[in-house]
Amino acid sequence: MQKPKGTYDVYGKYGENIQYLEKLLSALMEKYHYEFVRTPIFEASSLFHRGVGETTDIVSKETYDFKDRGNRDMTLRPEGTAGVVRSFIENKLYTRANMPVKTWYYGPMFRYERPQAGRFREFYQFGVEVFGSESAMMDAEVISIPVTFFRLLGLKGIKVKINSLGDKETRENYREALKKHFAPYLEDLCSDCRERFEKNPLRILDCKVDKEKECMVHAPKLSDYLSETAKAHFKEVQQYLDALNIEYEIDEHLVRGLDYYTYTVFEVEADIKDFGSNNVLCAGGRYNHLVENLDGPSTPGVGFALGYERILNAIEAEQIKLDNENQVDAYIIPLSEHEKTDAFQLTQTLRMNGFTVETDYLNRNLKGNFKQADRLNTKFVILIGENEMKDHIYTIKNNQTKEEYQIDQDYIVMFLDEKLEETVLEEEHSCCHGDHHCDGKNHCQCHHEHE
Ligand code: HAM
Repeated sequence: MQKPKGTYDVYGKYGENIQYLEKLLSALMEKYHYEFVRTPIFEASSLFHRGVGETTDIVSKETYDFKDRGNRDMTLRPEGTAGVVRSFIENKLYTRANMPVKTWYYGPMFRYERPQAGRFREFYQFGVEVFGSESAMMDAEVISIPVTFFRLLGLKGIKVKINSLGDKETRENYREALKKHFAPYLEDLCSDCRERFEKNPLRILDCKVDKEKECMVHAPKLSDYLSETAKAHFKEVQQYLDALNIEYEIDEHLVRGLDYYTYTVFEVEADIKDFGSNNVLCAGGRYNHLVENLDGPSTPGVGFALGYERILNAIEAEQIKLDNENQVDAYIIPLSEHEKTDAFQLTQTLRMNGFTVETDYLNRNLKGNFKQADRLNTKFVILIGENEMKDHIYTIKNNQTKEEYQIDQDYIVMFLDEKLEETVLEEEHSCCHGDHHCDGKNHCQCHHEHE
């Protein structure tokens, strides 16, 4: 049996890295005061047709559709926004007094794409969706989330690209201008672009194949069609980004592949040598009509999503070592059969006191157990033998320095607490030399220098 094409299994270091990302993202969302939400992995197919857009590649070519046993058309979600908007409307979150409603989510998404590096058929996204604020400050806050996250990870090679698609009217006028412009060049364009010409001419600008062509370079500029309101909003977004010291590039060709965007759109690219073509780490934008289009009350929205796989690729490409060493605080060794139950009990007691604890499950001999303790990267080994049981005094060995201690049963927790604290302080000192704020464990912006 083999896994389906375009999917992957998670285990070992990759799993630890994913957990690290999720912990960091969850802590970040607490600071930004966003609310966790979860929506179903499958929804009625019509949600994505109406939400993401009939003409988009995602909906027209890439959805996993199926009929359920009640003959209803269902689709595995290709992205998170449509489901979160559906949930916002269905659960009447728009009636809340404490607007804006700021949400975050993560989970698997499904797109039937051609699998390649950084492109999967089942992939994981973390995303945020914010409802009820038109403020440009909200756009800048949403853009600041991935940027802050990348800074915390220590990722240096990132490029933020922004653009404004303007309001509905801007898009309509611009669409007409593009049709007029490209009509005489249709023969020169690739087959995808010819299709886009009919369905969504804006997306011609997104084309990777035709991007160097004369007619592309001289295409009308979206910025010439922006309404005064849209221009002012876009200017404000830039001012707020400047206020947060976020560097960005304005990319007039950035139009995004989903239909729901209005005003600000953005992408963060990996700007790392030899990263490969799937270098968009995250993307998003404003969608002021989506709630209404899905039968909710008119409510502005803005959000973004990032793909785990690409973030982990970027971390690998920049050779960043995540601060998630999997260490065992204590490994408990019973010296004979008689102490097995006590060792098992002590394992549980210490776990309940907050330590990461392992013991022997394979009846290893003493040498084998010490070897296993080394393999598990253990800090302290606790030996339980006949004498230890009788006197309630335990032998505890520092597995790195090999120092040995005899500790009364009642003081084991206190002893480990103190000793582990000491090791953290030593690690802290060796990594940042006391130069700046760093607790040696958590993240700070000088992460790279710690390694
Ligand atoms: P998207 O650009 O389709 O936007 O996807 C966002 C991110 O998901 C991409 O930048 C990429 O990192 C990752 N991604 C997309 N497709 C794949 C794939 N096949 N394999 C691996 N990673 C992938 C959205 O999904 C919008 N819902 C974002 C948004 C939220 N806009 C507003 N709110």
